[in-house]
Amino acid sequence: MCFKAFFFLTSRFSKKIFEINLFCFSFGNHWAILFSHPNDFTPVCTTELARVAKLIPEFEKRSVKVIALSCNSVKSHIQWIKDIKAYGEITEANFPYPIIEDESRTIVTALGMLDPDEVDSTGLPVSARSVFIIDPKKKMRLSILYPATTGRNFDEILRVIDSLQLTDKHKVATPVDWKVIEMKSRLCIEEAK
Ligand code: BEZ
Repeated sequence: MCFKAFFFLTSRFSKKIFEINLFCFSFGNHWAILFSHPNDFTPVCTTELARVAKLIPEFEKRSVKVIALSCNSVKSHIQWIKDIKAYGEITEANFPYPIIEDESRTIVTALGMLDPDEVDSTGLPVSARSVFIIDPKKKMRLSILYPATTGRNFDEILRVIDSLQLTDKHKVATPVDWKVIEMKSRLCIEEAK
């Protein structure tokens, strides 16, 4: 399936609109995160997309590609990105991940992302705050669905990815509140002993 997405290319040719093949998005050895928000230009959504933009280096460290989605148009995404960048004090010219338009609700309906409690100005239902984590074999490994009124914690998403990647590699399970401990701080503790 191909869905139209807005993409700022990380090249000097900046703004471009692409058709992308969602199935191929997590190509190669990459993981992928597809996440939806209820509406462009709304306060909580703006904070979330700015936070994800700030966390892109962390996602890249883990070989994770990020793609956002809402039922708004590409035109709306392009205007809204200016607000997201201003709020997040993002100075790079190019927005670091694509935002899919789904005005037809094709994707959100197929993937169960609609929030029956939230409607847009025309009375149509909009997407909830859902997150799908997809592994390099294109298998969905986690899905969460938050109501529109609750912003997500993307540090938790990174923590889950760390756990998934670790437990894929080693026969272990991670306990409550588990986190990767930075080697540097562990060395400091050892040195202090
Ligand atoms: C928000 O992003 O602020 C928001 C969007 C939909 C419903 C409630 C809050």
